[in-house]
Amino acid sequence: MRKKIIAGNWKMNKTVGEAVELAKAIKLELGDCKEVDVVVCPPFTATKAVGDVISETLINLGAQNMSSEDDGAYTGEISHTMLKELFVRYVILGHSERREYYKETDFWVNKKVKKALEKNLRPIVCVGEKLEDREAGNTEAVVEAQVRGSLADIPAAAYTDLVIAYEPVWAIGTGKTATAEQAQEVHAFIRGIVADMVGAEAADAVRIQYGGSMKPGNAPELLAQPDIDGGLIGGAALDAASFAGIVKAGL
Ligand code: PGA
Repeated sequence: MRKKIIAGNWKMNKTVGEAVELAKAIKLELGDCKEVDVVVCPPFTATKAVGDVISETLINLGAQNMSSEDDGAYTGEISHTMLKELFVRYVILGHSERREYYKETDFWVNKKVKKALEKNLRPIVCVGEKLEDREAGNTEAVVEAQVRGSLADIPAAAYTDLVIAYEPVWAIGTGKTATAEQAQEVHAFIRGIVADMVGAEAADAVRIQYGGSMKPGNAPELLAQPDIDGGLIGGAALDAASFAGIVKAGL
């Protein structure tokens, strides 16, 4: 039985002061939640302060990106060592906004995933088709290429530590959610690709989150699907009550 995992991606929102307030409110609602893995991913500047707020709770700290390199002349980048120093456990890699605006390719996402796993950080690896891909009937081809490329050469044993997030780009921040059936279909397809890549046991163990306008209202139906093991939440994660409502839908 896969434990559900709900992660909040705060994106480029919240000053340190605002992030602390949000973290405190989330802590009140979810600090002792054992049944679901809860992760918050504040912006880098607020990571330390949010980590201090949730340090004695069951809430996990995550980051929104990480360099594929160890250290050195990489202006503007953040390394695994820097994240681990702040007790970060999870890291979102290959989010569609990074793929789209910063031209991150599967090659780079793959390098980052390998580095994160090597350093005992848990990657949340994002994949998902754009609207034009879906309309052209290319959803499976696009998602398959991203899964195979982003997860190339990852050993089967690592799949218990990594999380895949299926996020149809057309559903992110748009208020349009994939129906539970549409999402389930792609999740099952992704699990099948993982089985083909590294075997049935790893495919059965890997957790696959849905992301894209997930809210307390649609979360119960999405999370009830057999291959949907959680959510990666953007907008609704900026409000403690909405985020908690989604987590509670996963219980
Ligand atoms: P959204 O974002 O919940 O605001 O659609 C999801 C994401 O981008 O991770």
